[in-house]
Amino acid sequence: MHSKITLSYVLCLICVIHTPQNLAHPLSRRQGTLTLQVLNNSVDTKLGCTAGEIATLQSALADAKSIVATAAQTLSGVALGGTSPEAVTTFLGISGAELADGITLRFTDVGNFFGGALTQITDLVAGNSATTLRFYCPAASTSAQDGNPCKIAFDAATENLSDGSINKIALCNGFFAGIILIHEAQHSTPLLGGSDSDILEDTATSVADCAALPASEKSGNAENWALTAFLAKVDPSRFA
Ligand SMILES: *[C@@H]1O[C@H](CO)[C@@H](O)[C@H](O)[C@H]1NC(C)=O
Ligand SMILES: *[C@@H]1O[C@H](CO)[C@@H](O)[C@H](O)[C@H]1NC(C)=O
Repeated sequence: MHSKITLSYVLCLICVIHTPQNLAHPLSRRQGTLTLQVLNNSVDTKLGCTAGEIATLQSALADAKSIVATAAQTLSGVALGGTSPEAVTTFLGISGAELADGITLRFTDVGNFFGGALTQITDLVAGNSATTLRFYCPAASTSAQDGNPCKIAFDAATENLSDGSINKIALCNGFFAGIILIHEAQHSTPLLGGSDSDILEDTATSVADCAALPASEKSGNAENWALTAFLAKVDPSRFA
């Protein structure tokens, strides 16, 4: 339910969108319409985002889109080539069609998801729908009772419709970046065209713990996908 990322991140300077042309396994999961919204603080000062936070969110969405585009390109090459580069073995432990499916849902669909327009709202609950994802920024002084899910050291906290809540991501501690949003998106997969069973949990969060998971559990942990995307950006040699 709550997730934390301690990784630093890099801004993407070059964004290369690559569509694999003839993967044996089709990369074609359908994506529904999705509306991205952010609660501004003009009415709700306890949970709303300031103009500066909204600007940071906008650039984090752009970063996330760019990072997953690079990751999708790198890993599509891996899936096509049938090779087992070290980073994929270390963090995902899957290959072939299973990897191709993962790339579609966890990178390509996430990029489409974060590429949409971000509109502002003034009420976190009113007008919510099954295809809406809402970002909000609980003030540090806002209590859990008043709707603040953030705890010390949390970067973000995701809730989804399947929890009986609305699809929303709380941006915690005033720091959020593209790589964190990629992680959080793994908890909102029904919005990407995936199903509840595609929602990943937080079994491990540190890099060492993610690498140490049993091979069968790696691709089922949200942070392993975020780490893979991050590495494809900063250390492509690990995918050679
Ligand atoms: C989202 O819904 C699923 C399915 O009910 C649930 O297991 C999960 O804990 C929910 N929240 C997150 C953040 O994944
Ligand atoms: C907050 O959002 C509302 C609804 O879109 C908009 O009318 C208002 O100008 C926004 N306020 C700020 C401070 O951006």
